[in-house]
Order: sequence, then structure tokens, then C-alpha cells
Amino acid sequence: MRAHNLPLFTIVILLHTNSAQSDATPPFSCDPSNPSTNSLPFCNASLAVAARAKDLVSRLTLDEKVQQLVNNAPSVPRLNVSAYEWWSEALHGVSRHGKGITFGGAIKSATMFPQIILSAASFDSSLWYRTAQAIGKESRAFFNGGQGKGMTFWAPNINILRDPRWGRGQETAGEDPLVAGKYAVAYVRGLQGDRFEGGEIMREGSLMASACCKHYTAHDLDNWNGVDRYSFDAKVTKQDMTDTFQPPFKACVEQGKASGIMCAYNRVNGIPSCADRNLLTATARQQWGFEGYIASDCDAVAIIHDPQGYAKEPEDAVAAVLKAGMDVNCGSYLLKYTKSAVERKKVSESDIDRALLNLFSIRMRLGHFDGDPRKLQYGAINATSVCSNDHQDLALEAARSSIVLLKNEAALLPFSKTSTKSLALIGPNANSSAIFTGNYEGYPCKTVSILQALDNLYNIPTKFVQGCEFANCTSVSTDAAVAIAKEADRVVLVMGLDQSLEREKLDRVELGLPGHQEDLITAVAEVAVKPVVLVLLCGGPVDVSFAKKNPKIGSILWAGYPGEAGGVAVAQTLFGDNNPGGKLPVTWYPKEFSKVAMTDMRMRPDPSQGYPGRTYRFYTGPTVYEFGYGLSYTNYTYKVISVSRGSLFLNSSSAVKKSGSISVSELGSKGCESIKFSAQVRVTNHGSMAGKHPVLLFVRSNNPGSGGTRRQLVEFKTVALSQGETKDIGFDISPCESFSHADEDGALVINEGTLYIGVEGDERTINVVI
Ligand SMILES: *[C@@H]1O[C@H](CO)[C@@H](O)[C@H](O)[C@H]1NC(C)=O
Ligand SMILES: *[C@@H]1O[C@H](CO)[C@@H](O)[C@H](O)[C@H]1NC(C)=O
Ligand SMILES: *[C@@H]1O[C@H](CO)[C@@H](O)[C@H](O)[C@H]1NC(C)=O
Ligand SMILES: *[C@@H]1O[C@H](CO)[C@@H](O)[C@H](O)[C@H]1NC(C)=O
Ligand SMILES: *[C@@H]1O[C@H](CO)[C@@H](O)[C@H](O)[C@H]1NC(C)=O
Ligand SMILES: *[C@@H]1O[C@H](CO)[C@@H](O)[C@H](O)[C@H]1NC(C)=O
Ligand SMILES: *[C@@H]1O[C@H](CO)[C@@H](O)[C@H](O)[C@H]1NC(C)=O
Repeated sequence: MRAHNLPLFTIVILLHTNSAQSDATPPFSCDPSNPSTNSLPFCNASLAVAARAKDLVSRLTLDEKVQQLVNNAPSVPRLNVSAYEWWSEALHGVSRHGKGITFGGAIKSATMFPQIILSAASFDSSLWYRTAQAIGKESRAFFNGGQGKGMTFWAPNINILRDPRWGRGQETAGEDPLVAGKYAVAYVRGLQGDRFEGGEIMREGSLMASACCKHYTAHDLDNWNGVDRYSFDAKVTKQDMTDTFQPPFKACVEQGKASGIMCAYNRVNGIPSCADRNLLTATARQQWGFEGYIASDCDAVAIIHDPQGYAKEPEDAVAAVLKAGMDVNCGSYLLKYTKSAVERKKVSESDIDRALLNLFSIRMRLGHFDGDPRKLQYGAINATSVCSNDHQDLALEAARSSIVLLKNEAALLPFSKTSTKSLALIGPNANSSAIFTGNYEGYPCKTVSILQALDNLYNIPTKFVQGCEFANCTSVSTDAAVAIAKEADRVVLVMGLDQSLEREKLDRVELGLPGHQEDLITAVAEVAVKPVVLVLLCGGPVDVSFAKKNPKIGSILWAGYPGEAGGVAVAQTLFGDNNPGGKLPVTWYPKEFSKVAMTDMRMRPDPSQGYPGRTYRFYTGPTVYEFGYGLSYTNYTYKVISVSRGSLFLNSSSAVKKSGSISVSELGSKGCESIKFSAQVRVTNHGSMAGKHPVLLFVRSNNPGSGGTRRQLVEFKTVALSQGETKDIGFDISPCESFSHADEDGALVINEGTLYIGVEGDERTINVVI
């Protein structure tokens, strides 16, 4: 028992306080006091960015140009151009990974928000936007304080969580392309300093920080069963490309106006992503209007030669990526081989200039060529913004809004703050706060474990047994756990995974809880006086059917990797100071799913081969928990109170009907404009507690035909309701986007037949006439 009430921040303030003052100077070019350059056009802020970049590139020698094609670009002293580091990370907070940011100065920590897979469960775009805005602001403070050698961050990771075993699934917004796309837009706009909704984004204009949509494209396998990301050739159908893998990138560019894209390690249908002109230039730049730079994943150019063998010689790899439209190489390959590629006439200097124009344009948009950045638009942001109270509160809000309640028999949760006599806390993840920050982390402002947070907040006599030393739980001490469980009023087990089991370069092979976790949980549940609570900390989904079925396990909470405030958020959720409202952003598959080859990229099922398909949109097999699932401490009811039309007539257009469907591109933008659609949904809180949660609107079809989805999320909105309150929510839908899917040629089509649009438990029909 530990009855003291430790003041949360004493320790932390000693360890992590960021001092407000810093004398380090950020790197910049075009010092106005330097007479040799201040009259040159590239230093003239009143000229257009493109013209300035062109002027600068025209002044560089071939050797100087080549040096600028890699992530650590050196200075050009004769032109007063500073060095620049392109590689920084900021997945869910300013990260210590990458090369551009140092935590070694006046700023020693940064706000660590929940890992993305958990934030995704809030289905709250405005929260995602505010989070990214806070990260962008903190990153500026690092830069202004001389702790940043660059402002280009290689986030967000917007790949589809296609397979539950993916070690980097934790970094993504889950399995749904609409959600991943909306997450991308919110993150990019927040980080880059743009407005969330409405308003033209000034393309010429300044960037608070630069975001980068990665990994382009169809990249979602790290290292599984002897297949690694460097040599993997993803065989992707045109159909899946159009309506699963590409939509997040399209949204990131078209609506988010991302200033960066990273091309992936893997090949797609034989062609290395970074050498694919169709992907980089024809699709991203020409079709979607991308105006930014394209970086390779680290060493993704080198592997095109070896091990992929796609390029015969190193110079061929260099030529392939520069001609495809890639601009900067994370690594040193372009530094080593570009000059010889020019000499051997495999690339021309104009291919290099094309890349450099993109690169210098970004640095100019970041305000690095206008004199001291501390005197410019974002110059006043300083260390007091890092770990500010607002940002720490936001980290807590994000964790609270995202935790998912998976089971709650007989309203076991929340525990009573007044009548809970004692607690037994068990599990390898119960007294660790390091686990909360997942991967691509930085040093958090302050953080306490679930055990410490419970102690600080509720002061209930608590006994703790770790049970297993680590989440792998290869050896287990059941007796000690059973002993404290027997005697406690309430028992909470904090289990799951950690970074030794799922991470970059490591996919899982199994979907169950690792090692002896199931044995430990079951043994503890068996002896406990009342049903126990299971808290799962993990990114990818786990098969917990055994716990779902066991009546002695009363409640299950999934808390992802909840960021620096995760301990407090989980404690508050256990005791009803937070009402969980998160919904799963990914299907939780049974263990048997691990029989499916992870290398099989097909989204659609193939019954003839016993292939079940992937994600809630296509998967035909049983689930442990479904995409979109999540309970609450209160009861909500939903009613679709109106839809703007019961029939959708697409037969008046000139588009040709083909096997029961009509092509969206043939309908044309005018056709799409004329078939706007809206729905009103009434949500009532019938329970006894206020709560905030997302309302998910789905569409399904009685005629999915070949290649249609089983179900498709079309829109989501967050609603906060006090006890007894009712609110109506309006959804505006574009049928061309929401009611369509791709055909086998990769064209978006709408099927004729009946659609059912609705929310949990209530639907309306729409007749599609072609
Ligand atoms: C940092 O910025 C805050 C405003 O956000 C300002 O009040 C403070 O004076 C600044 N500190 C320094 C050292 O410039
Ligand atoms: C910067 O460009 C503007 C617009 O062309 C021009 O009027 C001005 O003289 C230039 N400034 C310098 C210092 O060259
Ligand atoms: C730019 O010029 C200023 C003033 O001459 C000098 O202090 C600074 O070191 C130069 N920076 C670079 C990167 O050359
Ligand atoms: C919980 O972890 C903290 C920090 O590592 C440690 O100081 C403390 O002793 C642990 N508590 C228990 C009960 O083991
Ligand atoms: C379990 O995890 C610990 C800590 O990461 C490690 O030392 C140990 O080797 C792991 N055991 C197995 C069997 O993987
Ligand atoms: C479209 O179909 C509806 C319902 O069958 C019908 O009433 C209407 O006349 C058709 N319109 C055209 C242009 O064929
Ligand atoms: C929610 O509704 C169910 C079924 O109607 C009922 O059993 C349960 O007590 C309700 N829960 C709350 C918190 O109101």
C-alpha cells in the first residue's frame, strides 16, 4: 500500500524544465548585413519563390548542386547559403529520431501526444489538427532556439493498416482510406500553419513547418517471414490502388497541400516507388497538383541497385529517381554517384536543377532565406511554447478522447471513487511510462505510469505485481499476482505489447497476446473476488477472444500507446472521470488470420482460394472486434431523421452504363455536383453520464457486384452530449466519392441498386437508378 499523494510535477520540473532563454542562433541564409549577397535576387523576399529558387540554382556549380541532393545538405559559404538537414521526425510530437532536431540545448523535452493509431480512435479531425498545430509550434521553438538544423518533418505516416501484424501499424490512422486521408489533411494543415477548414492556402506562402506524406505507396510490410521492406515487390491491383492505397495520398496533396512526399522502399508491381515516374510525376505532381519536394526513404535509392537489382549500376539508380521526379536522397547515394551519372550522360544537369528548384523552394517557404528567422512570421515562438500547459492539456485530452471500451459487463466500470476499498494492479505495462510514447518518440514533458497516476489521483490502497518482466512474458510469476488479486476489492491487469514485439523492421507473426499473458490473466481472473478489468496497451490489434468470452473478465479497455498523459487518462477512465468514447480504427482479427500471407496485397476476398480479404470493407471472416466498435459508460441511441433524397437518378447523364454501374469520371464534375446528398442523424444520450464520441456514418449496398465494398465509412463527426441531451447532426455527402468504388481497370464507378445509409442500428435506403 502506498498512501502518499505525490505531487506530480516536482520530480519532473527538476528533470525536464525547458528554460525560456536560448542564445543559440538558428541557421539561415541571406544575412542582410552581408553585402555580397543581400542584393542577389534569391535573397529578395519580394520576388516569387520559384524565381528566387531558379536564381539560386543558376549560381551553383555542378559539384555544389550534387551536394544538395542528400539529406545533410552542406552550406555554400560563397553565397551565404546555410547548411540544411532535411531529415527530422514529428510523428506524434517533436521526435528525437531523425537528424535535424537536438534535445541537448535549453529545450530538453517536448509534448508527446498519443501514438497515431490511438488518436485515430477519437475520429476527431479537429483534435488531430490542434495536435499537429501544437507540434508545428514546438518544432519552430526548437528551430528558433538553435536546436533544429531543419524544419522538414517526415510525418504523417498515412499508409493503410492493411495487415494487423504490421510493426508500424501503430504509426498510422488505421485501415480506412477515408480516415487516413482526413487524418493526413488535419495533420498537414496543422503542422504547416494553415487553417483547418476553408480559406485558400497560400502556396507561395510561408510554412510554419513542412509535413511529408509517407510512404508513397502501398507500403505496409516491414519484415515478415523472411520478406523485408527493401526487397518486397507489392503486387497491387489497379482496383485496390484506386480505392485503398492512393486515396490518403491524394487527400494529403489535394486538400492538405502537403509540401513533402516520401517515396517508399518497396516496389509496386515491379517498379521501385522512388523510380516510378508515373507515381511521382504523372500522378502526384500533374494529376493532384503537388507542389513540394519528394524525399526518398533512407537508403531507398541504394537498394534500387542492390538488393533489388532493378538498376544495373549505381548511376542507373540515380538516373531513374531523378528522372522519375524524386528530389532528395535520405542517405549518400546521390552524393556519391550523381556526378558520374552526369559524366556518363545518364542524367542531365537539368534533371538535377529540377530537383533543386523544389528543394530550395521549400527552404524559402520556411523563411530560411529572408535573414534571421527570429524576426519573421514565426520568429516569436520560443521555448515557453514547448510543453506549455495548453499543449500538455491537449495531450491529456487526446488520450482521454481516444481510449476504447471494448467490454463492460454489468457496468463493472467505472469504479467508485468512494467505495473502492483496495486495488490490485498487475502486469508488465502497469508501472511503465516509457511504453506510452511508442516509436518515433521524443522526451516527454512529464509522464507517470498508470500505477503512479492511480496513486496520485485516487489514493486507494494498492498492491502491484508485475507478473512478467516484459510484455513478451516468456517467464511468469503467477503466484504473486494471484496472491494480491485474491485479497483486493478490485483487480486491474495492464497487459498488451511493447516496442520489442511490434516496431519498425519487425512485424508480428502471431495475433494473440505474447508468451504467458493469457495464462496470467486467466489465473488472476479465476481467483479475484469480482470480475477483473483488462487494460491493453498495444498498437496493432490482438486476439483477446479468451477475455471477451470469460465472464470473470468484466471489462476490457484498449489504450494504444497513449502518449505522455496516458497514465492519467487511463486512471481517470477507470474511475469515471473520463467517459470513454473512442472507436476502433482497425478490425481486430482472430488468431487464425495469421495463416494469411502478409505479402498478399489483395484487399478483396477470393473465395476460390480461401482468401478472406482485408479490412472491414472487404474481409469476410469472423472478427474479435469490428472496425468502428467501442462502448461507453452511457447509452446513446441513433436515428436517421432525414435524407435529402430517396433516389439517385444517374440515368439522365450521357454516361454509359456498363454491367450495372456507371463511371464517375464520365459523370463529370457537373454530374457529381448535381447529385449532392445529405443526411440528418439524431443522437440521444439515454444514460447517466455526459460523454463525447464520434458518430460514424456508413453505407452498404444490396448489390456490391464485383469489387464493391461490404460496407464503407462515408463521414464521421464528434458529438458531446450531457446526460439526457439530444442533438441532430448533419452530414453532407458527395455520392461520387462516398458511394463509389473502383472497377478492375481502376476507374471509380457507382453501382445501380439499393444503398443503405446509416448509423448504429438505424438505416435509410437510397435507390440508385442508372
Ligand atoms: C517567449 O514568448 C512569449 C510569448 O509567447 C513571451 O512572453 C516571452 O517574453 C518570450 N521569451 C523570450 C525569452 O523571448
Ligand atoms: C527586389 O525585387 C523587387 C521586385 O522586382 C525590386 O523592386 C527590388 O528593387 C529588389 N530589391 C533588391 C534589393 O534588389
Ligand atoms: C552569412 O554572412 C554572415 C555575415 O557576413 C556571416 O556571419 C555568416 O556566417 C554567413 N553564413 C553562411 C552560411 O555563409
Ligand atoms: C514504479 O516505477 C517507478 C519508476 O520506475 C519506481 O520508482 C517505483 O518503485 C515503481 N513502483 C513499484 C510499486 O514498483
Ligand atoms: C523478452 O524481453 C526482454 C526485454 O526486451 C528480453 O531481454 C528477452 O530476451 C525477451 N525474451 C524473449 C524470449 O524474447
Ligand atoms: C430515369 O429513371 C427514372 C426511374 O426509372 C425514370 O422515371 C426517368 O424517366 C429516367 N430518366 C431518363 C432520362 O431516362
Ligand atoms: C444501457 O441500456 C441497456 C439496455 O437498454 C441497460 O441494460 C443499461 O443499464 C443501460 N446502461 C446505462 C449506463 O444506462
